[in-house]
Amino acid sequence: MTDVTDVTVLSGEANEHGYKPFSIGEFNFSRDEHFVHVTWPSGTHVTAAEPFLKALMRDVAWNFFYGTVNFDAVLGTTNHYGNVDLFAGRFNEAYRKAELDHMENFPHDEIKATFTAMLSDWTNATFDPFAAPMETGSAYGAKSGNNDAAVTRTRVTAKRMVGMPDDEPLRTDESGYPVNRAFHDVDQSQPVVEVEPGYENEVSAYNFFAYLSRSDVTWNPSVVSVCKDSLYCPTTEEFILPIIHGNDRVEWFIQLSDEIIWEVEDLKTGTPRAKVVMKAGDCASMPADIRHRGYSPKRSMLLVWENNSPAIPDMIARGEASVVPVKF
Ligand code: PHB
Ligand code: FE
Repeated sequence: MTDVTDVTVLSGEANEHGYKPFSIGEFNFSRDEHFVHVTWPSGTHVTAAEPFLKALMRDVAWNFFYGTVNFDAVLGTTNHYGNVDLFAGRFNEAYRKAELDHMENFPHDEIKATFTAMLSDWTNATFDPFAAPMETGSAYGAKSGNNDAAVTRTRVTAKRMVGMPDDEPLRTDESGYPVNRAFHDVDQSQPVVEVEPGYENEVSAYNFFAYLSRSDVTWNPSVVSVCKDSLYCPTTEEFILPIIHGNDRVEWFIQLSDEIIWEVEDLKTGTPRAKVVMKAGDCASMPADIRHRGYSPKRSMLLVWENNSPAIPDMIARGEASVVPVKF
């Protein structure tokens, strides 16, 4: 995705709590000490500031991700890769029936700039939306400073593989990535690789568990290896996935350590479909017609495996690709 340039963000004067209001299309957003208020022509929504900012952080950092990012049961975005739907109640059966739902499509850069400005203005110095609850201060209260250092983080994206020459570097104490408090038992030794002269740029290996044990964020898949459209996106998880993800393709999960409980619902209506408990070593695929949210009681390691092919959403829409990886 291109960087955002030359886009006008519609924001107003700061309110009595110090926060600016923002609008895009017919949606209006404001925040007070505790809550975010959203209005659109046919309805209104109120949600707590902390979960809102944690969801907004992911939507911004992931460039609207694959498919749909539900902030909660009402509000969310759907990525069309170049333009983005912003919706309220669109995938909520009750809102649809009551005709309270609303959806508008925006150019990627316009909504990205608006969300980025809102995230910056509404995040106080004490709060890191990427951090686990026990590793950050509060999101609440009147405006006090900012945490732009934290909210401008983007996901790590290797070109080929972490640790290769000219690719993403390995994490070390010196580079500011100490081993997380939950992973002091993870072996930090590196493999010895003896490369035949001439192949230094092609042969490499590293201790992947050691790399992940040094992740300073939660629920933020990085890309550690790229092989054509196959992306390995490991992440460390603690507490609750801040978004409810409605994928536009099948994705795979391998639980590398500890445990995550997944709630799986119907993509369009939110009707519950399954509860999946994944323990270390378990592998599961998430179908393309669901939305899901994970709960990690202790910080855990998860490998998310994505097929990044831009052809897949249309193939699924045309019925040429299945919403499940295997039919038994
Ligand atoms: C997902 O929606 O599949 C997802 C998102 C973020 C994570 C893990 C999984 O950290
Ligand atoms: Fe997902």
